[in-house]
Amino acid sequence: MEGFRYFMPADTFFGRGCIEAHKDAMKPLGKRAMIVTGRNSAKKNGAQKDITDALDALGITWVLFDKIGENPDLETVVRAAAFAQKEDIDFFIGIGGGSPMDASKAISVLTANPQKGEEALFDGASAALPVVAVPTTAGTGSEVTQFSIITLHEKRTKTSIAPKIFATVSYLDPKYMDTLSPQVTNNTAVDALTHLIESYLSASANVISRKIAEIGLSIFKDCMPALKSGEYTSDIRDYLMLASAIGGVAIAQTGTSLPHGLGYFLTYEKHLPHGMANGVLTQAYLEEFPAGDIHVAKILEILGMADTAALGTFLREVLDHTETYTEEDIAYYTERAMEVPQKLATFPYPLTKKEIQRIYEKSLL
Ligand SMILES: [Fe+2]
Repeated sequence: MEGFRYFMPADTFFGRGCIEAHKDAMKPLGKRAMIVTGRNSAKKNGAQKDITDALDALGITWVLFDKIGENPDLETVVRAAAFAQKEDIDFFIGIGGGSPMDASKAISVLTANPQKGEEALFDGASAALPVVAVPTTAGTGSEVTQFSIITLHEKRTKTSIAPKIFATVSYLDPKYMDTLSPQVTNNTAVDALTHLIESYLSASANVISRKIAEIGLSIFKDCMPALKSGEYTSDIRDYLMLASAIGGVAIAQTGTSLPHGLGYFLTYEKHLPHGMANGVLTQAYLEEFPAGDIHVAKILEILGMADTAALGTFLREVLDHTETYTEEDIAYYTERAMEVPQKLATFPYPLTKKEIQRIYEKSLL
């Protein structure tokens, strides 16, 4: 067996009502917090109030930055960090989908390193202030990963910041998803599925990360009928959040792979939701593995799928993908994907431009 390292330091609480029950975990993080979130959803689903009630009870003062949109850009996190520095913030609380949680990590790095400016995000040695993560969708896994993805308009794509920032504390309460629309539920659930699949198949997978991904895939399988029907019981919400967190734990060990690396351009250029972008590329990605690959076969077996085509059919059923593409689009995405060799290296077999182009063509034309 090959050697490996396993590191997942986020202190993670799972369960309905977990913020109130375990608010003391935030006590050692400081006296003043910044809540980082979007405009509406954390207010509607109750997560923001649960956090502010907990902070008030603990005597921690707080300010609110609720201007994080989907796929937060460098300009937004720089603006938030300037606000945080002025407010003398000790720690950050990201509430929402991947966007606010990722943004809070980047803002934390910028706030801790005023002398470096934006460069702090591209220097792996940059320190950060503590981050608390409260996911309100089940997909990103950011609450248990070291990743923070931000949009760089200058490069017309999304990229991971260099510092690896795990949340110090994560609160996973599935009740915040009870009001989530079927569309967002399914797009984010497919993000979680692709984390599990890409982690399992990554060249960096190890014995533990694969076993973890297998657990996540089997939980995901039980949620598949609900994704198709659009009817989600509270048990299904719990299991979706669990599958998402397990997907995060798996990619924290391995990173993501081709659907993520190739999907960023669809999100930037065509505004496809992140999970949908990964999902539309997944069947063709799996078909680039040699026929009979044991790991692809294991994924299909756990998901109860006869073949990659059946999985593709499922993904088309649960995603509302209506975007159209030209051959010029594909040529452009292929060129851009070739600029990210570290992502291509996660594929465990030789990979050239031809295969990348084929994945885009089969998926999009
Ligand atoms: Fe993702």
